[in-house]
Amino acid sequence: MQHDKVLILDFGSQYTQLIARRVRELNIYSEIHPFNKIPSTLEDYKAVILSGSPFSVRGDAALHPDLSEIRTKKPLLGVCYGAQYLAHFSGGEVAPSNTREYGRANLSFIKADEGFFDNVSVGSQVWMSHSDTIKQLPNNAVLLASTNDVENAAYKIDGEQTFAIQFHPEVYHSTDGKQILENFLVNIAGLTQDWTPDSFVEETVEAIQEKVGNDKVVLGLSGGVDSTVAAVLLNKAIGKNLYCIFVNNGLLRKNEFESVLNQYEGMGLNVKGVDASQRFLDALKGIEDPEKKRKAIGNAFIEVFDDEAHKLEDVKWLAQGTIYPDVIESVSATGGPSATIKSHHNVGGLPDFMKLKIVEPLRAIFKDEVRRVGATLGIDSELLGRHPFPGPGLGIRILGDITAEKVRILQEVDAIFINGLKKWGLYDKVWQAGAMLLPVNSVGVMGDERTYEKCVALRAVESTDGMTADWVNLPYEFLQKTSNDIINKVKGVNRVVYDISSKPPATIEWE
Ligand code: XMP
Repeated sequence: MQHDKVLILDFGSQYTQLIARRVRELNIYSEIHPFNKIPSTLEDYKAVILSGSPFSVRGDAALHPDLSEIRTKKPLLGVCYGAQYLAHFSGGEVAPSNTREYGRANLSFIKADEGFFDNVSVGSQVWMSHSDTIKQLPNNAVLLASTNDVENAAYKIDGEQTFAIQFHPEVYHSTDGKQILENFLVNIAGLTQDWTPDSFVEETVEAIQEKVGNDKVVLGLSGGVDSTVAAVLLNKAIGKNLYCIFVNNGLLRKNEFESVLNQYEGMGLNVKGVDASQRFLDALKGIEDPEKKRKAIGNAFIEVFDDEAHKLEDVKWLAQGTIYPDVIESVSATGGPSATIKSHHNVGGLPDFMKLKIVEPLRAIFKDEVRRVGATLGIDSELLGRHPFPGPGLGIRILGDITAEKVRILQEVDAIFINGLKKWGLYDKVWQAGAMLLPVNSVGVMGDERTYEKCVALRAVESTDGMTADWVNLPYEFLQKTSNDIINKVKGVNRVVYDISSKPPATIEWE
């Protein structure tokens, strides 16, 4: 079945992915493409949205794509930079603004009869974030909305299905933003809202069956949401031809290997658990440098997975839990390639010599959609609600070299912290939490004895995608109880600290 699609042209805004997600929430399929790589055939797209941008339309570095195949031919919505871009090239005037145009504003005027602002009232809150502003609309433009500070907050071009707004409908702070997107996409552009988790499951299962036929497929399970949902989808499509491998790298959480393996078996997956803890510990022996650790863990994983895959006969495909944010080609704000902060390791990244064809059933969907698809597939909500956990596991939460004893200590600490969050009803309010074992000893006193033991740092963050994050204001009573429990119950730890750094400038993991 073909769905109506929206093309989102990315000009480098930090919010571009949010536009795509908001559109998907309306059950409409959307795709992000860089502004300078407009798809050669536009037939499949029923509407186009131009994103915001850190650039100014007036600057030398301004991004000026040729929109002649789009403008007047497709319903078009310009957001922020997109709105300024359309104004600038249609005879309007864009200039630096004199008043502050960041943050909350309220619509003070709405032209009601164009359908664009149906079910939106004067007073509705919108989110502004721009330093340029549209001083003068093009001659053929009709003003659609204003705020107190921004007269030309929204307009349309007369005789075209071209609309433009200087505020950001995609952020939650624009309280009617989703309604405005729906007005544009459904009422004006006439798109059908038929992109649902059910339809995704049905179509993906058919597509997998068609693609892999009777071939065997191997998949590395990590215990995380993405690989689990990918496995359940594939299992639904090809059943026992799916061979799942779940590797214990010895750096998982306490009892995680056994309990997740049981869960997988309970879900009817054809899964083999491989305990390779010692192999990973050996590979990591004496390594202190974070990047070297990541590489050592990644390489050990490839070796173990390769050994196991070779034990299976006639496997032709490797399945991966890649999701849409991993494949979007983003426009960076500097125009150049972004620096490698950390070399992320996922279950993918296998060497060419494995010569397997790749199947990635979640390639088109966002994380929140993966969870919705998982729920449609009947996967346990506790499993779907699990915090993200990095591929290298506790290996990047033990600072300095890794030993079996340090892993044991951190597993105990982590279990007390995570179980505590669950018990206090805080787990679902936190995006990710974990503990770090620091490479320092400090002096303490227990009973009348001097101690000289390890220090652990607890970290809990809120985030939407891990790209930016802030530390969570956990209740003091909770921190007090957790610290007490850790120091009393975990031998070898005499000090607990709480990490109050945001990302940026810190990162979520310490290595
Ligand atoms: P950072 O530390 O870069 O982490 O702020 C952002 C998010 O990514 C996770 N993370 C990883 N996930 N493989 C993964 O699958 C990795 O190598 C890896 N490193 C970090 C981290 O847990 C956080 O959610």
